[in-house]
Amino acid sequence: MAAAGSGHENWSSRSAFILAAVGSAVGLGNMWRFPAEAGENGGGAFVLFYIFCVLLIGLPVLLSEVLIGRHGQANAPESVRRVARDSNAPEGWSVLASMGVFAAFLILSFYCVVGGWVVYYIGVFANDLVQTGLAGGAFEGRAPDDIEGLLPGLFGNGGLMVGLNLGFLVVTMFFVARGVSSGIEWVAVYLMPLFFLLFLAITIYGAFTGNFSDAVSYLFTFDFSKLTGEVMLAAVGQAFFSLSLGVAGMMTYGAYANRDTNLGETSGIIASADTGVALLAGLAIFPIVFAAGLSASAGPGLMFQSLPIAFQAMPFGSLIGLAFFVMVFFAALTSSVSLLEAPTAYVFEKFNISRSVATVIVGAGAAVLGVLSALSFNDLAGFYPLSFIPIFAETNFFDTLDGVTAKLFMPIGAILTCIFVGWIADAKLIDSENGLDGLLHKTWRALVRYVCPIVLTVILYVGLFG
Ligand code: TRP
Repeated sequence: MAAAGSGHENWSSRSAFILAAVGSAVGLGNMWRFPAEAGENGGGAFVLFYIFCVLLIGLPVLLSEVLIGRHGQANAPESVRRVARDSNAPEGWSVLASMGVFAAFLILSFYCVVGGWVVYYIGVFANDLVQTGLAGGAFEGRAPDDIEGLLPGLFGNGGLMVGLNLGFLVVTMFFVARGVSSGIEWVAVYLMPLFFLLFLAITIYGAFTGNFSDAVSYLFTFDFSKLTGEVMLAAVGQAFFSLSLGVAGMMTYGAYANRDTNLGETSGIIASADTGVALLAGLAIFPIVFAAGLSASAGPGLMFQSLPIAFQAMPFGSLIGLAFFVMVFFAALTSSVSLLEAPTAYVFEKFNISRSVATVIVGAGAAVLGVLSALSFNDLAGFYPLSFIPIFAETNFFDTLDGVTAKLFMPIGAILTCIFVGWIADAKLIDSENGLDGLLHKTWRALVRYVCPIVLTVILYVGLFG
């Protein structure tokens, strides 16, 4: 449905908006990146600081982003320009969203690489189910090393990596090309409820069969000495990545919201759902990992290597494994769709071309970068594009894109968004959009004006140079 005169689409209902935004937020960031980052950054200190970031920084920034989008009713840079214009402020502020759109495009390119791994594991478990039947654990008779070797095995096969990556990207493009209500909304409305169903089943299963108490104490024991600048920056980056913030994604989705949606309330729902899923994912994955005697700091290998080994020891292991990766696939697809939508909406509105053509152009660009990311696990393993920056010294193309977007683009985008919403934009305009009143409104305003920009600048500084 197009809004009057603008040709701009809208969500068909408030719940469609919520499902799409939760679908954007909940993804590989929760299931794969959160446990990996928590494990690599020492557990409890990281997790608690992450929760702090979600509440004090993520939530206010989330509301700021959807608010800009809803007021602008256009792609992210154009929305910022319209808020600036209606506030008599310089329209050049739109650059904060242009940077974001570019960063979303970068994230999309490597996100689809990981999406491809998920597809590979769906194939592995489906095959295993067919081979060994329902009853026993997964991978009967295979050594743990062998199961762990599946991921390096995939990494070693550049052709397969590229093929899976492009396959995942093409599926994403298909839904984005179909538009807001029949594409983006469709995946969210059908896949997110399925995701939640599977997710609940697996979490309960993990809690009963795994080492739950070790996981709880690992994730929630706060050791202050572990909270270094680098850990703090990693936690902020994770909070932004998980909430789809700092890179124009939520502005783009906010632009499809109608006037009568209460944005304050909606932001609260989105942030709670996303954080709940991340914490529960940790509480599902770590018990299983600890019960199998595996290391918490396996990083990116946690979901793809440790978990499949754990599925081996479980009754119905192949089925659980298959269900798990199908569930992750659903979550990943609703997120990659939002990553593609931000640059696509910009391209087709800016250059006045059709949505489908814009999807193909952006997708083609993401394919090129994606191939470089996919090959950074094999043929391009020694290529460190930003080796002159200490924290990226030995970082391959894939990890460089991940690090630069989460540790630079997202915090910088969020700082600029806060300054824009808190200080530059017209206060009356902002007040009429945010759906908050009383103390909640005052708190939000103080967070956006003072707390977020200052805390983010400090964290960025100590994370990079401290
Ligand atoms: N939040 C998603 C996840 O956790 C990833 C994602 C989707 C994203 N859209 C985004 C990250 C926009 C940053 C910006 O998997």
